Amino acid sequence: MRIAFIGGGNMATALISGLFAAQGKAQEVRIADPNPEARERLEEKWPVICFNHAAEAIEGMDAIVLAVKPQVLPRVLEEIGAQVTADQLLISIVAGIPIDQIAAPHKSSPAIVRTMPNTPALIGLGITALYASENCSPAQRRMAQELMQAAGEVVWLDQENLLDVVTAVSGSGPAYFFYLIEAMRKAATRLGLPADIAGKLALHTAYGASAMAVQSDVDVAELRRRVTSRGGTTQVALEQLDAGHFEDLVDAAIVAATRRGQQLAGGGNHR
Ligand SMILES: NC(=O)c1ccc[n+]([C@@H]2O[C@H](COP(=O)([O-])OP(=O)(O)OC[C@H]3O[C@@H](n4cnc5c(N)ncnc54)[C@H](OP(=O)(O)O)[C@@H]3O)[C@@H](O)[C@H]2O)c1
Repeated sequence: MRIAFIGGGNMATALISGLFAAQGKAQEVRIADPNPEARERLEEKWPVICFNHAAEAIEGMDAIVLAVKPQVLPRVLEEIGAQVTADQLLISIVAGIPIDQIAAPHKSSPAIVRTMPNTPALIGLGITALYASENCSPAQRRMAQELMQAAGEVVWLDQENLLDVVTAVSGSGPAYFFYLIEAMRKAATRLGLPADIAGKLALHTAYGASAMAVQSDVDVAELRRRVTSRGGTTQVALEQLDAGHFEDLVDAAIVAATRRGQQLAGGGNHR
């Protein structure tokens, strides 16, 4: 695929790295970024061509990946709006900006795929939800999927507004797991374990449990039941979590994050 990245920051770098790791996927990669050091770094690492301005990078490309911060996106769309052709695919990884806002500045009506990746994409272990505009061809959907698979797993949505729920679950989700690891580390330290050992135990338990759940065909609820012997240590711990309304708390957190995503998308007050 011939692909232009607008913005050569963390996320773009993760995707480009994945593209080059998957042999034969990247026929031509261009990157637009105003930062000369970033351009130099990218050109040293991969066979890419870098540009200062977005408009210089996109001509003749099959896909244009919008990988700038949300507050920068309107300026970028203004810059390329007259130039994007109807057969080019726009892929947005920008959090919270709806397809109608991405489409508005364009003279042609390009197909648009809006995506929501998450931070583990930076190490190839992300999960990305994708939503395609109606005029997106099957080949363009495949192209967007192949690009995002370079950074991990993908799922497709058939309603754009569900991306706010995705943001609350997998976009913000890594922080919830970090918080649980922190809390377990704190409790173990308070009970006498040295802080480094407490941290290592909590971290690798999270890592091992996730890997086990990902690799298993068995549902996580059943995996939980299998390690919960009657009257044992796990059972009393889980009863404490239930007594503190653990499920309701998680539910409230995800509802709040979803609402915040909807507000940010509506109000344009982006981070
Ligand atoms: N990181 C994540 O885990 C994550 C997860 C989901 C979604 N996203 C989305 O991914 C997007 C990119 O995030 P990121 O973490 O990769 O940000 P980032 O590292 O800040 O990358 C953005 C890049 O765009 C450059 N830029 C600024 N103005 C530009 C312009 N007019 N034309 C071209 N490039 C321009 C920036 O240069 P300067 O630094 O010089 O300004 C920077 O190198 C964001 O919209 C974010 O919402 C990120």
